[in-house]
Amino acid sequence: MCGIVGYIGKQQAYPILIKGLQRLEYRGYDSAGIALINNDKLNVYKAKGKVAELIQFAEQKDIQGTIGIAHTRWATHGEPNQVNAHPHYSQSEELAIIHNGIIENYAVLKEGLKEQGYTFSSETDTEVLIQLIEYVKKTNKVDLSTAVQLALNQVVGAYAIAVIEKSEPDVIVAARKGSPLVVGIGEDEYFLASDATPIIEFTDKVVYIGEEEIVTLRRGMEIKIVTISNIEKTPEINKLEMTLSQLEKGGYPHFMIKEIFEQPKTLSDSMRGRVNVEENNITLSGFIDNKEKFLNAKRIIITACGTSWHAGLIGKYAIEEFARIPVEVEYSSEFRYRKPVIHKDDIVIPISQSGETADTLAAVELAKSQGAFIFGICNVVGASIPRNTDSGCYTHAGPEIGVASTKAFTAQVTVLTMLALIIGKEKGTLSEEQYLKITHQLGLIPEKINHILKQNDSIAQFAKTFTYAQNFIYLGRGYNFPVALEGALKLKEISYIHAEGYPAAEMKHGPIALITQEMPVVVIAPNVGMYEKVVSNIQEIKARKGKIISIVTEGDIVVANLSDYSISIPETEECLVPLLAAIPLQLMAYHIAVVKGCDVDQPRNLAKSVTVE
Ligand code: F6R
Repeated sequence: MCGIVGYIGKQQAYPILIKGLQRLEYRGYDSAGIALINNDKLNVYKAKGKVAELIQFAEQKDIQGTIGIAHTRWATHGEPNQVNAHPHYSQSEELAIIHNGIIENYAVLKEGLKEQGYTFSSETDTEVLIQLIEYVKKTNKVDLSTAVQLALNQVVGAYAIAVIEKSEPDVIVAARKGSPLVVGIGEDEYFLASDATPIIEFTDKVVYIGEEEIVTLRRGMEIKIVTISNIEKTPEINKLEMTLSQLEKGGYPHFMIKEIFEQPKTLSDSMRGRVNVEENNITLSGFIDNKEKFLNAKRIIITACGTSWHAGLIGKYAIEEFARIPVEVEYSSEFRYRKPVIHKDDIVIPISQSGETADTLAAVELAKSQGAFIFGICNVVGASIPRNTDSGCYTHAGPEIGVASTKAFTAQVTVLTMLALIIGKEKGTLSEEQYLKITHQLGLIPEKINHILKQNDSIAQFAKTFTYAQNFIYLGRGYNFPVALEGALKLKEISYIHAEGYPAAEMKHGPIALITQEMPVVVIAPNVGMYEKVVSNIQEIKARKGKIISIVTEGDIVVANLSDYSISIPETEECLVPLLAAIPLQLMAYHIAVVKGCDVDQPRNLAKSVTVE
């Protein structure tokens, strides 16, 4: 949450910073701001709302400077308005700061600073930090990087910050703890950002700043890194694999629909080099390197949030079915605080698209401290979670920019399915015949998704019928219960229609009371698993005049005839249905939200990367 960008070099900073903010806007869009040093002046411009508002505001100003920092905010402390927007000046207006994270002890620090005569214009924790840096700098008569270091030693919380100083137009000092920070190394220029997306068009050389590290970017000099406890670090330069076209809409009206349509490719990418379609064989290096641990595991704990947690539930069904290892699926935010029992021979699998979710990161740290083996499933390469795990698998879905997760979800399910199959095969709990059959079917999934995507226009048509709805219910059983949860989450987060997912058989235990002829009920009813039982559940809803929207297997006329609308998916193995059934649910949520005029890529109150707990 919150995106930060910085630039120092020979180019004008403003266009680079603005473009960077647009790339990072998925991280928060409550306000945006920019600070530049030019002609001995440190100018701050900020506006409530999206980056577009900042551009409009800045248009009337003459913005110059080859050094600057910029911020797009997801509000934590203080309402989203111009005063609380970053960058924040220090009292003397000599320094300016941008910050992603939360300073937990800001109230105590603020009181201390007030006693020293400091006053505050915003309600933010960030303003407290910049005043503290100024106070430390003045009282200790030290340079900016030392002041940042001394100040951060007094801070409890999470941060990625960048600070500039009016009288030092050749230096940016940045630091991180718990929030991400990447430095791009160009020719005589440096970029810094919350992730690599603002950097990629200028350089593919990046340094991921580590926990509690402070980086000093000085014009014409080497990058310098020290820890907050003053240990010098050698910067490790990495090469970015991302491409620019992955960050653009490529002719689609929104990133979300582009990402839904990318799924045949992203799933092929997830399987590339792992699923051998000729031999129907799976190779996962993360598994091979840790085979004994997986084969001897008494228990697996999956920890994740939101959509990733839904993927984890599907993973549980597959691992328990094929590998016969008990799996617990935990919300990271609960797991990290509720004193869970973790054994040394447990395998803990954090799942995260961003690799930065604060609660999942904390869950990883907790499990690590208790000696468990941590196997991460993440999308963003080099993010904090994969850097903190013992081993793992990247999902390779490419950058996901729409705030609602789509292609990352199906990639997570794909990786979990591959893992379940390979453990099952190696343990002997899954027959060779089943293994070959399911692996073969897995290889066919991308083409089957292509086939489903052809129904986009008709889904867009019937979606219009449902914009009246205030509520939706999603039902599924077995592997499709988590799909029902995910379908409901997609709809509520982008269309603001209240939606609930349930195991279909749970309806009778209460929720069926909600059914009226106004209530749309989405039922995932493929002709595998508990098909007949789901048909009975549909009858029960039909008898109460609910509107049925069903996801059925091609050729199924029984459920189609019971439904007001039905969308068909190709036949596949039961464990693979979620990879197909998720697609029409994503499309339906997207089209309902578009017809309702909602901002599908940046839904209200949300941000993509939840780096605060
Ligand atoms: C919903 C969505 C969120 C994320 C959740 C976890 O569409 O995107 O529910 O799944 O915030 O994020 P990651 O996977 O980055 O840890």
